Amino acid sequence: MAGSALSAVDALLARELERFEREHPRSLELAREAEASLLQGVPMPWMVRWAGGFPVFAAEAAGARFRDVDGHEYVDFCLGDTAAMTGHSPEPTVRAIEEQARRGITLMLPSEDALVVSRELARRFGLPRWQFALTATDANRFAIRLARELTGRPKILVFNWCYHGTVDETFATLDGDRVVEREGSIGKPVPLEETTRVVEWNDVEDLEREVVQGDVACVLTEPALTNIGIVLPEPGFHEALREITRATGTLLIVDETHTICAGPGGYTAAHGLEPDLLTIGKPIAGGIPAAAYGFSEDVASRLEAMLPTDERADVGGIGGTAAANVLSLAAMRATLEEVLTDEAFARMIELGERFETGVAEAIERHGLPWHVTRLGCRVEYLFRAERPRNGAEAAAGGDAELDRLMHLYMLNRGILMTPFHNMALMSPATTAADVDAHTEAFDEAASELAS
Ligand SMILES: Cc1ncc(COP(=O)(O)O)c(C=O)c1O
Repeated sequence: MAGSALSAVDALLARELERFEREHPRSLELAREAEASLLQGVPMPWMVRWAGGFPVFAAEAAGARFRDVDGHEYVDFCLGDTAAMTGHSPEPTVRAIEEQARRGITLMLPSEDALVVSRELARRFGLPRWQFALTATDANRFAIRLARELTGRPKILVFNWCYHGTVDETFATLDGDRVVEREGSIGKPVPLEETTRVVEWNDVEDLEREVVQGDVACVLTEPALTNIGIVLPEPGFHEALREITRATGTLLIVDETHTICAGPGGYTAAHGLEPDLLTIGKPIAGGIPAAAYGFSEDVASRLEAMLPTDERADVGGIGGTAAANVLSLAAMRATLEEVLTDEAFARMIELGERFETGVAEAIERHGLPWHVTRLGCRVEYLFRAERPRNGAEAAAGGDAELDRLMHLYMLNRGILMTPFHNMALMSPATTAADVDAHTEAFDEAASELAS
């Protein structure tokens, strides 16, 4: 950005910070009190990352909106960073949770819902067999372990600047040709050279070079990167990825946790991908912790021939006491059958298009060197003119100050964007008026920054 615009960022940030603090006295009070009993004053590490210097404390949420402890109402485009993509507390899910909670919460026994949900996941994603976990992180962790066991190979391959949850092997980035610890990663268990190969997204040549080494059990990837901004695959990339992994006996794990935004069967169904394993978590139970991982028939039968069914079954590093609990399965069933429906996706994607158009027009109107990208009902703006081709380009294009200002600017005008990047998600409860409220605030910010 031009120097004049950069100095505008500082001045605007100071003004917005002052307004935020003035208008959120109760959140500030709670944030100060929390310092005594919560590590870093927050219940979970990422909650330190809110733009106002202290987090907004939530009072209640419903649909696409929430209210804070100071009485402000917000349009929520963060939606729990996809965990509430269903909208907050969707009625069918709440009803199922209420009913199930009175009939048992967790048993270490299967319920009939497990069959219904696995069939529905099979219909949506095209993989015939499924298992359940509590988080997408766990689903990824279990998928990786199974891939190692099946192939007898030690390493995984991920793409530079990926994110798949708190999975040790994935906290790796590229420094030139070297695999290094991702900035900020805490307490790595073993040197990454022993566990991880990393290549740039969209780079078929490098992918092939690393996979043919013969020590890669699986490639773990989102079908489009969504955690360093949205970086879409170039034409032919997925075909090449599938061909190379098949040719080398490397398993392909597709993580649909965020890219479910592309449609009812995620990017996989929308683009006819054929992964060996697929993982998904976050919104599939309407906000109740739940995740699932699916297998191709080939992988499922190979696993069944190999996995123990005796007393060793519970100590293999896969599963968990509360995984597949009957409450989360009831919530998944209701969410898949009645909330994240085909019709809901059609509306959500239409709203995504409206959001994208509003932002693109404002960028154009104010002549800012920014752009906007969309994947289904997920929209993201980046403060650079060119679309990044890969994770390194996307990471290099970040602008921490401007990023903070935009989040705060929105927050002060009753709009919550996803932290860490400028991402917005549409839920079945989001309305055109909600989208237009963002467009108006975005236009106001763009106009101040361009002047
Ligand atoms: C693509 C992807 N996979 C997995 C995860 C992990 O999800 P969770 O933190 O719910 O385990 C995330 C979280 O942001 C994600 O973006």
